Amino acid sequence: MIGIIGAMNEEIVQLKEIMKIDETIKIGDFEFFKGEIFGKKVVLVECGIGKVNAAICSTLLIQEMKVEKVLFTGVAGGVNPEIEIGDIVISTDLMEYDFDCTAFGYKNGVIPRMESSEFKSCENLVAIANKAAKNIFENKKIFTGRIVSGDTFVASVEKIRWLREIFNAECTEMEGASVAHVCQVLKKPFVIIRSISDKANHEASVNFDEFVKLAAQNSKRLIEEILKLI
Ligand code: ADE
Repeated sequence: MIGIIGAMNEEIVQLKEIMKIDETIKIGDFEFFKGEIFGKKVVLVECGIGKVNAAICSTLLIQEMKVEKVLFTGVAGGVNPEIEIGDIVISTDLMEYDFDCTAFGYKNGVIPRMESSEFKSCENLVAIANKAAKNIFENKKIFTGRIVSGDTFVASVEKIRWLREIFNAECTEMEGASVAHVCQVLKKPFVIIRSISDKANHEASVNFDEFVKLAAQNSKRLIEEILKLI
């Protein structure tokens, strides 16, 4: 069984439309849709916005729905200056950029007393995602690298520069690292897929509203192709 998470309705609705839903299971505020996409058994869920919602939801997805691997689909703000709206990012690893124990001498994003704060994606899933992306996208750039997450919708050039300089991030969003953190702790393979809806600058909120659907569609298309190859 494969778990698929998106943060907002816009990020899961298109997959829900092509899914054969056998059962809907409600736990707290979350609705888990259990069924099949292209004959693959999946559980699809909308986790809500931000790191805490994503952590609760991915824990339930793993512990209650018993998924063996986790895919995340959604949109993000571009951080790499080369990235354009509509481009794709496949996670190699993720960090919680707003975790700050620098007062004790730790680097930004480092969570003290954890084995690692750089949550590594499953190499096999990253390879499959790359192959899938090459199969379906001709005119889009595909970035495979670090995604950073924090509880902020980033709309600041200074903040993007900082995220690039300190973390070498490709893009920023609000859930991926938290899902990755849960998967590391619970020992489940994962990969996070994002398509760029905005460039996290002063125009970010306007661009987000304009491009969220298109970017969500790109990410969904990639998830579909991954499911064919998995
Ligand atoms: N998701 C999409 N765009 C984003 C941004 N600029 N900041 C945080 N999350 C996002």
